[in-house]
Amino acid sequence: MHDVDFQRLIDEQKPEKISQGLNQAYKLEVNGEDVFYKRALTDDTIWKNRQLPLVKNKRLDQWLSIPQWVENRVRDRIMQLDPLRAHRLMIRDPHALLQKELKTVKLWMEHNILCPELLYEGDADVAYEWIEGRNFKEVLSDSGRKLELGNLLDTYMRIRYLALENQNRDFFHSDVHIENWMYGDKTRRAYPIDPASHLHKSMNRLDIDARLNLELLFSFFRADASLDVTHEYVKIAVDRFSQETRERMRELSNTPLVVKGYYLGLNKARELFERGPLFPHATNKDQRRIVYSIIDNALRG
Ligand SMILES: Nc1ncnc2c1ncn2[C@@H]1O[C@H](COP(=O)(O)OP(=O)(O)O)[C@@H](O)[C@H]1O
Ligand SMILES: [Mg+2]
Repeated sequence: MHDVDFQRLIDEQKPEKISQGLNQAYKLEVNGEDVFYKRALTDDTIWKNRQLPLVKNKRLDQWLSIPQWVENRVRDRIMQLDPLRAHRLMIRDPHALLQKELKTVKLWMEHNILCPELLYEGDADVAYEWIEGRNFKEVLSDSGRKLELGNLLDTYMRIRYLALENQNRDFFHSDVHIENWMYGDKTRRAYPIDPASHLHKSMNRLDIDARLNLELLFSFFRADASLDVTHEYVKIAVDRFSQETRERMRELSNTPLVVKGYYLGLNKARELFERGPLFPHATNKDQRRIVYSIIDNALRG
């Protein structure tokens, strides 16, 4: 696919934009084949619209997002305050993000983790096989998607074990929320996608693992499912973790800062995608308590 002029195809086919984040993504038809094409946005202004990590300003007693002008190095340090995101580095360079995605996807393919076939890799763009199906945010918005979730968890556990056994953090799904998993209608399998986040280089792998596991659980609340159904999803996932892993996750999730920061981030994300608040009738404090208690109760078993 190396001689394909993707820009020409976009101009001709005028496909709908799929992604609203740091990339432009399209469904394109290339030589009669459907393809998922993603291109990194190089324009720095996109960062202005980005959901930024929230930090507490003690003096003002207010949660603030980190302003744009803060240097990367400082930003990384501020991120360390939020234990759930501390495993991540704020890399802004779109090339570096894409390279990280490709590194992980290739490792997965070498180890028989099912992912969309890689069809083209450019400097700042990439093309994969088009998966006929939906991402898991949509899948889990239907009730009772236990089989599909089980499929995601099978793959997720294999990925974790590969990272832990091979002592190589590049195996981890570094941006593990449910919109970064596809479910194929034909294959009836879950596909991990978009592992572009850079992980902390010196953080202990077990700590990274615990943070990513929690991130996956928290992301279940992004789906438009009833609270009971979401509760069920959380329990199904927690069941897969060993006692030791659950302990690590509990220690982390017990930090009030984590719950607060994570909850606010979640609502912010929902706002961004015009999904409305998680529980429209509860106060912020109550909502936080609900999310936290569901996850904590499940971890306690
Ligand atoms: N191979 C694919 N086939 C079909 N849809 C896909 C494919 N890969 C991603 N998508 C859809 O596009 C969305 C954005 O893709 P993703 O790689 O996560 O880009 P971004 O970096 O913008 O988050 C996903 O949430 C998913 O719904
Ligand atoms: Mg994504």
